[in-house]
Amino acid sequence: MKITYLGHSAFIIEEGDFKGIIDPFITGNSLSNINVDEITGLSHIFVTHGHGDHLGDTIKLAANNDVLVISNAEISNYLKEQGLNTHSMHIGGRHSFDFGVVKLTPALHGSAISTESGPVDGGNPCGFVIEINGKKIYHAGDTGLTMDMKLLEIENIDVGLFPIGGNFTMDIEDAIRAVDFVKPKLAIPMHYDTFPVIKADPREFAEKNKTCNTKIMSIGESYEF
Ligand code: NI
Ligand code: MN
Repeated sequence: MKITYLGHSAFIIEEGDFKGIIDPFITGNSLSNINVDEITGLSHIFVTHGHGDHLGDTIKLAANNDVLVISNAEISNYLKEQGLNTHSMHIGGRHSFDFGVVKLTPALHGSAISTESGPVDGGNPCGFVIEINGKKIYHAGDTGLTMDMKLLEIENIDVGLFPIGGNFTMDIEDAIRAVDFVKPKLAIPMHYDTFPVIKADPREFAEKNKTCNTKIMSIGESYEF
C-alpha cells in the first residue's frame, strides 16, 4: 500500500486498481503544491466531516474522476443532491467494498457544511479505519483525545494518522496519548502548520512518541508499507 501526503489532513492511498483520497483539501491549502486538476485516476473519496478544510475539493474531484464518495449519511446525502455517487455509513459501522473494508470511528468535533445558503448539517464527524489486502490505515479525522481510541488497539493498525495542531483538534501532548491508545505500528502527524493557529513542530511529536515509530511526511512525499 502506498500513501502520499498532500498537506493538512489530505492523503492519497493506492493499492492495485484502488486510488482513494481522504479529506481532499487542495484548493486554498497554503501548503499544497499541486493543482486539483492534476489528481487523476481516483476511484474513491473519503470525507471525515463537513468542514471546508476536509470536504475541500470533493465536488471538483468527483467531476474530474469516476469516484464513489464514502462518508457519513448526512454528508453523503448532501453530496448526492449535488449529483455525486455516494455510499453512506455511520459511526461504528463497517462495510466490505470491492477494494477492502471500511469502518467509521468516532471523532469529537463539529461537521457543519458551509454553503452559499448557510450552514448545512454534516452529521457526526468521523475517522476511518481502511483495510486493504490485510493492511490497515487509521485516519483520525479532526478530533480531540477520546477514550474510544483505546478500542482501536484491537484493530492492529499498521499506520495511524493523527492531528497534532491543537486549537481545533488534539495537540502534540494529546496526540501522543492517542497513539498510545491506538498502538499503531507507525504514526504520521497531520493537521498542523496550515494556519497560524495550528502551528506545531512534528519533530517534537516524533521525539515524545515512545509507542511506535513516527514518520514525518513532507508535502508530496509517498510512503509504502
Ligand atoms: Ni474540522
Ligand atoms: Mn480541520
